Amino acid sequence: MKPIYFFLPLVCAFAIFSFRIYSTPIPNQPQFDENTLGQIAKGKLVYQKYNCQSCHQIYGLGGYLGPDLTNCMKEGRNGELLIKTLTQVGTTQMPSFPISESEMENLIAFFKALDQTGNSDPRHFIVSSNGMIAEHE
Ligand code: HEC
Repeated sequence: MKPIYFFLPLVCAFAIFSFRIYSTPIPNQPQFDENTLGQIAKGKLVYQKYNCQSCHQIYGLGGYLGPDLTNCMKEGRNGELLIKTLTQVGTTQMPSFPISESEMENLIAFFKALDQTGNSDPRHFIVSSNGMIAEHE
């Protein structure tokens, strides 16, 4: 059998799949004003400065000692109080951090924005045939 008969269907499948992925609109991205965007960016640097990712995940990526923080600011969770208390006092497993007030404001803006961009809980995913992920209602 000539190699072309083997590779042609694969190349076609790749082209069709790529077309579907790139032609699917990106679902509702949240919009932020300049000021908030600045805060969010600084908040991400605070997250990196204190190495939170060594124990925590965002979108499932990071260390696995602590829980995923993608949705730690979800409404009704009192996330702000939780994060302030935990970073100031620490627990047996999580150390406390000398985070200043302005750093904390930025960190919270970062987590609030993260919460609006997706859901880290795989039980709430629907994977569609083109590989995109949608949320359950
Ligand atoms: C040495 C590992 C470690 C580091 C570093 C760490 N954490 Fe944690 N964190 C934990 C653990 C473990 C928990 C779960 C509570 C517990 O059992 O102590 C936790 C819990 C939390 C929670 C509560 C999550 C929830 O939804 O209940 C928040 C918020 C949090 N951490 C934020 C942070 C932030 C912000 C940083 C960086 C400044 C950070 N953590 C750095 C280990 C860590």
